[in-house]
Amino acid sequence: MKYKQEDKNFNRYCVTTALPYANGPVHIGHLAGVYIPADIYVRYLRANNEDVVFIGGSDEHGVPITIKARKEGVTPQQIVDRYHEIIKRSFEEFGISFDIYSRTSSKIHNETASDFFKKLYDAGKFIEQISEQYYDEEAKTFLADRYITGTCPHCGNEKAYGDQCEACGSSLSPIELLNPKSALSGNEPVLRKTKHWYLPLNDYETFMKEWILDGHKDWKANVYGQCKSWIEQGLQPRAVTRDLDWGVKVPLADTEGKVLYVWFDAPIGYISNTKELCGDDWVKWWKNKDTKLVHFIGKDNIVFHCIIFPAMLKAEGSFILPANVPANEFLNLEGDKISTSRNWAVWLHEYLNDFKDKQDVLRYVLCANAPETKDNDFTWKDFQTRNNSELVAILGNFVNRTLVLTHKFFDGKVPQTNNLTQLEKDVIRDVASYPQKTGSAIENYKFREALMEVMNLARLGNKYLTECEPWKLIKTDKDRTATVLNLSLQICAGLAVLCEPFLPFTAKKLSTMLNLPKLNWTDAGKCNLLSEGSAIEKPELLFEQIDDKTIENQMQRLENIKKENALSNAKVEHQKNNISFEDFVKIDIRTATILEAEKVTKTKKLLKLTIDTGLDKRTIVSGIAEYYEPEDIIGKQVCVLVNLEPKELKGITSQGMILMAENADGSLHFIQPSTIINNGSEVR
Ligand code: MF3
Ligand code: ZN
Repeated sequence: MKYKQEDKNFNRYCVTTALPYANGPVHIGHLAGVYIPADIYVRYLRANNEDVVFIGGSDEHGVPITIKARKEGVTPQQIVDRYHEIIKRSFEEFGISFDIYSRTSSKIHNETASDFFKKLYDAGKFIEQISEQYYDEEAKTFLADRYITGTCPHCGNEKAYGDQCEACGSSLSPIELLNPKSALSGNEPVLRKTKHWYLPLNDYETFMKEWILDGHKDWKANVYGQCKSWIEQGLQPRAVTRDLDWGVKVPLADTEGKVLYVWFDAPIGYISNTKELCGDDWVKWWKNKDTKLVHFIGKDNIVFHCIIFPAMLKAEGSFILPANVPANEFLNLEGDKISTSRNWAVWLHEYLNDFKDKQDVLRYVLCANAPETKDNDFTWKDFQTRNNSELVAILGNFVNRTLVLTHKFFDGKVPQTNNLTQLEKDVIRDVASYPQKTGSAIENYKFREALMEVMNLARLGNKYLTECEPWKLIKTDKDRTATVLNLSLQICAGLAVLCEPFLPFTAKKLSTMLNLPKLNWTDAGKCNLLSEGSAIEKPELLFEQIDDKTIENQMQRLENIKKENALSNAKVEHQKNNISFEDFVKIDIRTATILEAEKVTKTKKLLKLTIDTGLDKRTIVSGIAEYYEPEDIIGKQVCVLVNLEPKELKGITSQGMILMAENADGSLHFIQPSTIINNGSEVR
């Protein structure tokens, strides 16, 4: 079935998912943003007997992988071997039904990417340009932007990278850094001339305007919007090679130490992987006009898939271009951005240790909550609620009630349908509308809406059962009970078909319990999938309750990670710039005793303290009220910066500052002499 008008022109589908970097495992953000939507789409197409190929793989080149390898003292190949396996396994375990999951370090990819470059080169599609780039004379190598650190010209952060300052978020070029240092040798790098090849994107500007801005108004608003702003800012030539010793070698003479830029070779990986899967037959997936090419990606990949890769394909000339690029926004975790380096993530392999066989629960929650139009938040509480009050209470409950009653009253055989009342006729008519409603949502990449429709079908089933009450009806009218359970079973069969793209493991269990043959998508609306008298297996629960303790454990785990991060942040917080001794002696710190303490009204943090400094008695306002009760600190000896300029706080003049040490968790603690000594003693 093709519900979408444009799809009627297509005879096959080539569906790709962004190739994840093989420098870490995959987490819920990857699944929610890219792999689950793509898998739903593909499973749906297969249920419609469409000709489809589903391409995935690992992105194994690029600087981050070389950095990780250096940190661990291993080769980049060892890094990608490790993570490729972990990532591949995670996808298998979650039922992401790739036709192939390969990798960009493969031989066939090397050849394909190399040939692609050569073809563009020979056709004169690149411009050659010499530029100056930082070079490490000791390590004898050009430095990737990430390998150069220095002081951010915008905020003064001394640990900014050549491409970005993580303190203030500015994107930088290495030349802008003050005091640049090589991460390899620690030396100051020098500028050296180097030759690179550029794809002149500016030459494709008119084409992009027509193709995307006029021709693809149907793309998701977030995708279209990003493309528009890129194109309107004016496209610039983009370097497609790098000085690096990890990647696909530039296939030209005298290019020792140069490789293709990772964003040039990686998307070609889609093509290489198709070749690896199909042999010579790969061509029809990439060159036939009646193939619909769809890239599933996250929002940080939009420009590469909508502008740069299409420009490459266009330059080559014999390829089709993507018909759609349904990019998603980001998924956050408990309110914070998911981050591999801060370990702020739910890792797929870890999830399965804690929630054995519950792949579909995660698939369900991530789809129901997918960041389709805006960033979204994953919370464990929501995970629990969706499991308990949706999967268990709606879908699981309907199926279970139907199957249990069939066994109880009809010996586990599909009972016979007798007279249909108006109610059955209405239900049958409603059920018939679900394949179309759900399918058309999927074809429009509205996976949350599609999943909601599937759940609505289960709701409809529940409502029907509740209205008919077969458990009571059996006492007075066995014929009608048979009719009700027959129809309920038919709805279960329809659900098995419609939930398959979303919940493949559940669909399998349900089909097995119902002894269903292989069915097509449109069969789901028919209410005649189970023939009278056929046997139903003993029901097994499809879902089970998840209790509070389990959820609390997960939240505790995240709490612990937060604490660890705070601690290690405190450790890496680097030393401030040197000061002179003259600067130091300007500071006058004295021992003092707290005489009185009271809360400053209408504030949460402030205490008003009266202090005996040995020099005088004075008032100091201190922001410690969250950590100390006034009565607990009277009589304590402390250290006070006495020559701090007086400051007005909430109408009180504060004359100095009590010195406190801040622990990693943010709590404040007094600095005290190790034994009580005279007030007014100098601290130095
Ligand atoms: N590795 C990239 C990322 O994780 C995605 C590459 S997609 C491809 O952001 F098309 F280049 F393969
Ligand atoms: Zn900065």
